[in-house]
Amino acid sequence: MGASRSELKSLRSTKYTSSARTEGGIERLRALGYRSGLRALDLADRALGRDRKMVPPRRYRRFIGNGDFTKVGTSITQYMRAELGLLPSHDVLDAGCGVGRIAVPLTSYLTEGSYLGFDIVPHAIDWCHSAITSRHPNFRFSHVDIKQEIYNPEGTLTSADFRFPADGQAFDMVALVGLISHLLPDEVDNYVAESARVLRPGGKCFATAYLVDDMVAERVREGRTAFTFTHSRGTHFIHSEQEPTYAIAYRLDHIQEVAARHGLRLEREPQLGTWSSSTARPASMDLLVLERA
Ligand SMILES: C[S@@+](CC[C@H](N)C(=O)[O-])C[C@H]1O[C@@H](n2cnc3c(N)ncnc32)[C@H](O)[C@@H]1O
Repeated sequence: MGASRSELKSLRSTKYTSSARTEGGIERLRALGYRSGLRALDLADRALGRDRKMVPPRRYRRFIGNGDFTKVGTSITQYMRAELGLLPSHDVLDAGCGVGRIAVPLTSYLTEGSYLGFDIVPHAIDWCHSAITSRHPNFRFSHVDIKQEIYNPEGTLTSADFRFPADGQAFDMVALVGLISHLLPDEVDNYVAESARVLRPGGKCFATAYLVDDMVAERVREGRTAFTFTHSRGTHFIHSEQEPTYAIAYRLDHIQEVAARHGLRLEREPQLGTWSSSTARPASMDLLVLERA
């Protein structure tokens, strides 16, 4: 199958890899080889009938993180159902939905409700449209052309004043999975405000993040965490000065202060991932649940 125009455009412009890591010629070549390898594997999957309708090709899956697409998506949505009380009649907004890792397992559950996902990578949204919306019309996806150094360097909008493509109080749950760690403080402020705006009273905002308290700050300073955040900025810690949005950890008290300012409160103590207690990788992020007053 030929690549669509939007795929070609975004494959050309999207790095998905920190330029801090690909500065050297060898690293750039390695990244190029990796991408070509994934394309070859996708072709092989098709030729051998190993491709599955509701699983995106490998070259699209690579930018959403490690782990098995189906298993990770299923475990996240199990958590939303069992722990956060997500019901089949609920309306879910998924900001930074990627290639539908959360949407796919929800298609068999949100039978009366609805799902809206938006993302800044056009071919991810194209794939979600053709694979998911075509079979489940209550699942909708929207591409938003926000500029982001890693994922969409040629975008024209900004996260700090972006308005979610949704009416106020239209959703029971907002998911921000793998997103906060790519947002700068003024962008987090706006995304939390927008989450609060679109949530119904009592609705929940579910996020993954690298959360830092005093004890974790100590470990970060000593380099005893799975991901390194070498530059402290008071409210947050960044991995790379050259490319701050590659990975950002936030002080929990800062996130709580931002949330409170926008009418959200910590619904429960965050569930800690493994990234801050050990240097072992792969490592998981912390889970944060905020509730709309
Ligand atoms: C680590 S991936 C996680 C994707 C998805 N939430 C999942 O769990 O599979 C981060 C996603 O956030 C998207 N993203 C980054 N900055 C964004 C922004 N400002 N607004 C919306 N999406 C953004 C990226 O394009 C990418 O798809």
